[in-house]
Amino acid sequence: MRVPVRSYLREIGEYKAGKLVKGAIKLSSNENPLGPGPEVIREIVESIEEGKLNLSLYPWERNEEELRDEISSYVGAGMGKENIVIGAGIDGVLDTLVKIFIANGDEALIPVPTFSLYESLVKIAGGIPEYVKRRNDFSIAAKDLLPMCREKTKMVFIASPNSPTGNCISEAEVREIIESMPKAMVVIDEAYVEFADSSLVNMVKEYENVLVLRTFSKAFGLAGLRIGYAIIPEWLASHYKKTSIPFAVNSVALTAAIAALMDKEHLRRSVELVKHEKPFLEENLQRFFKVYPSKANFVLLDVSPWRAYEVYDALMKCGIIVRDCSSFRGAGDSFIRISVGTREQNEKVVDALKSIC
Ligand SMILES: Cc1ncc(COP(=O)(O)O)c(C=O)c1O
Repeated sequence: MRVPVRSYLREIGEYKAGKLVKGAIKLSSNENPLGPGPEVIREIVESIEEGKLNLSLYPWERNEEELRDEISSYVGAGMGKENIVIGAGIDGVLDTLVKIFIANGDEALIPVPTFSLYESLVKIAGGIPEYVKRRNDFSIAAKDLLPMCREKTKMVFIASPNSPTGNCISEAEVREIIESMPKAMVVIDEAYVEFADSSLVNMVKEYENVLVLRTFSKAFGLAGLRIGYAIIPEWLASHYKKTSIPFAVNSVALTAAIAALMDKEHLRRSVELVKHEKPFLEENLQRFFKVYPSKANFVLLDVSPWRAYEVYDALMKCGIIVRDCSSFRGAGDSFIRISVGTREQNEKVVDALKSIC
């Protein structure tokens, strides 16, 4: 006989990652087309060969501390290592944070469309996601969110730049949200911050109810190693450590992340590529479709009157994988998201769309 599982499982679907097809150009998950930096590869290989990195041992606390130190210097904004916690990607950090704040029946505000993991984790914890539709230009207005905030509202999720829309929230709006909801933790997801011109990390110094998420998956090119971090107010650190599984981040990822922070040249090259190639994509794609302004390493297209899946399928036949955004709550069925690739990849996207259109 099958053992009954918790009822929330009826309400959530399995996470659908961007497809991987051998030989195809993958522009569906906003990864770094340059891959990890050469210094990262060298450091991993040498550390294993020299026995500094011993895969048969559990990750070393000293390495984690060193990484938190390096992250605090990288982040600046007066943040010390006591303000930094790490996890298996932003996904892993979010998993721990939701466990800290959401109990049965608690609510979380989620402006949509946005990253889908927020709502899944809230539901898994027994919480209730409350969705707030973004405006037509995908901006968030504090005055749309505030009436939805109740006694049971424990978290607010704001991705900036947001995925799949690519836009940022203004500092004034965030400030209003943070100040008007002192009993809710405002989570600012800055997965794509390296490609944007500004960060909201200064808010963590100013307020006790805000934290910022960052990752090594995008600009640093380490998506496969699963490592990310949060910049948090100090009072939260001990709760995080109690709730997170021990050794959430593996020792190869710790070594790689430290090396990635040292390899400033690779970071510069990766960001430069996006700053240079995004306008190329935007200029060429807007000949066919509406292109939304993006502060991230991807562009969002409205392909109406076509349906997203039609353009997705046609590109797939040309060997190019993009993201059909219909699975994002509140996105409708005419949006596709394309990660910025190398010039060669981007030219193939433009040529493919030209032939399709
Ligand atoms: C807004 C946003 N946050 C977080 C993530 C996940 O990041 P990580 O790879 O660090 O888990 C993604 C992944 O695409 C994302 O788009």
